[in-house]
Parts: sequence; C-alpha cells; structure tokens
Amino acid sequence: MTARVLVTGGAGYIGSVVVDQLLDRGFHVVVLDDLSTGHRGAVAKDASFVEGNVGDRALIEALLERERVDAIMHLAAFALVPESVAQPEKYRANNVTAARVLLDAAVRANVRRFVFSSSCAVYGHPATIPISEDTPQAPVNPYGETKREFERVLSEYGLRRGLAAVSLRYFNAAGATERRGEDHDPETHLIPNVLAVALGKHRAVDVFGTDYPTPDGTAVRDYIHVADIADAHVRALDVSLVNARLFAGALAAVVAWRTRNVFLTIGVGMGLLWILQAMW
Ligand SMILES: NC(=O)c1ccc[n+]([C@@H]2O[C@H](COP(=O)([O-])OP(=O)(O)OC[C@H]3O[C@@H](n4cnc5c(N)ncnc54)[C@H](O)[C@@H]3O)[C@@H](O)[C@H]2O)c1
Repeated sequence: MTARVLVTGGAGYIGSVVVDQLLDRGFHVVVLDDLSTGHRGAVAKDASFVEGNVGDRALIEALLERERVDAIMHLAAFALVPESVAQPEKYRANNVTAARVLLDAAVRANVRRFVFSSSCAVYGHPATIPISEDTPQAPVNPYGETKREFERVLSEYGLRRGLAAVSLRYFNAAGATERRGEDHDPETHLIPNVLAVALGKHRAVDVFGTDYPTPDGTAVRDYIHVADIADAHVRALDVSLVNARLFAGALAAVVAWRTRNVFLTIGVGMGLLWILQAMW
C-alpha cells in the first residue's frame, strides 16, 4: 500500500520541492496550503491540493478523516524575521496556535509520524560554533521563539500521545530544482535578490556591514540546497525513534524516544561577498 503524506505549506518554496520528491519516491501526497505566501502553480499536478488554513479545525478534521494519511510534514508557517519583530502576535497565531490545531487533529486521527520544519533561529546567537542538536536554545526574535515553542509542544505530545516526531533545524534554504524555485513577495533572501540584479530587475544588492571578523568581512551564513532540505524531510519519515536500553545486562526497560531534533548543515558558512563572487 502506498504511504500517504499530508504536506502543509506544499505550495511554498521548500514545500513544493518536498512534494516533488515524495511523488518521485512513490508516496501519495495531499497538500494543504492557504496560498498566503505560496503559489498554486508550484504544486505538482499529481498531488491532491486543498486550499485552507492549518488552524481551521473543521477543515483539518475532515481532511484527515477523508485522506487517512500516515504522516504529516508541517512546513506551513510565516518565516520573515523582521515581520515577526513588527507583528509578533501574527507569528504566534500562525506558527504556534494554528499549528497546535493541526497537531491535536493529527493525534486524534491516529497519525503516527510528524516531521516539523523548524529553524536554526531556535539557537539565536550560539556561544560556540559549530552548532549541534545539544546547543542551548536561545532565540533572539519572535520567529525563532515560535519555532522553539512548537518544537516543545511537539515533543510533549510525542511523549504523551505516541506520536513520533522529527524537527529539522536549518538556516538558509537556497537554490532551485529543474521544476521549482523561490518566489516570495517581498523577497528577503540573498540569492534570488542577487539573481534579480543580474536579470536587471533590481539595481543593486545591499550589503549590511563589511567589517565583521570573517574572511570576506561580511556576515557568514549557513546555506543549504533546497533539494537537500527536501531530501532530509523525506528521510525523516524513516528515522527510527524507538531505542531499547539495557540495564544491568538485562532488558529491564524499553525507552522510547518519541521525538528527535536534527540540525541540518553542510558544515561550511559563506560570506555575502563570497557568494556574490561565486555567482557573478
Ligand atoms: N526558507 C528558509 O531559508 C527556511 C529556513 C529554515 C526554516 N524554514 C521553514 O521552512 C518552512 C517553509 O519555508 P519557505 O521558505 O518554503 O516559506 P514559504 O513562505 O515559501 O512557504 C510557506 C507556505 O506555507 C503556506 N502557509 C503559511 N501559513 C499557512 C497556514 N496557516 N495554513 C496553510 N498554509 C500556510 C504559505 O502559503 C506557503 O505556501 C517554514 O516553516 C519556515 O519557517 C525556512
């Protein structure tokens, strides 16, 4: 039987690539997206599409009842840091409150696996580099706080309600596939803005600070290709979340870790000028 997956935010930049990879690997895919920042045309034809909000309880319950999905990949969220500072309640309402409606419905519908697109914004300004999953969480903006808060809710559910969950923490998604690319309005991410200059759509790219103690003097960021992020989402469906622990040589207890937090990185940070040179 084909495994069935619900992808929230599947009309967005990363979600649309996740949908393509799931379909390519033989999954039945249902997309739920309210098109607040996504595009209907970015959803593969072979996926079922439902236009709606993850916070709409009646819609979600009916959808889960009808579709009987085995897993949910939750990418729907607002994700602009400056906007989250200006409108923290908007971010809390969508990224935590609405997401909880989805999670409640998932537990009641007996969905077994939940993959959450979290963010490295949960770390804030880490005291030590490189970051690992154990690096203390200390978000420095409302966006990061909403991601940390939903991770916490998810792991509590995992323990209490038997839902196996994986939270993927990553920094800047970048790149495109042959079928999909990045199309935000406003576009705040570096690479599409550099390309917009190359295409003559913008006059220049702003560089904020050139005297950082980094090789090129600009802020170093961790970029990861969107296809690799999508691949990690699909692989998270297969991560084993149950571990047996041996005590005093005998199997005295079986401990189930129901949640995993996974940090995604290519391990190389890049400065802005380095990226400009590489793309020119
Ligand atoms: N882009 C990055 O660099 C990056 C980095 C780390 C984490 N993330 C996370 O990955 C996810 C996807 O990011 P993206 O860059 O593809 O963003 P995006 O804006 O392109 O995609 C988000 C999608 O979710 C939809 N959506 C938002 N709220 C919704 C709701 N309540 N109900 C239904 N649909 C809703 C939007 O219409 C959009 O299609 C987000 O959760 C984001 O926080 C992104």
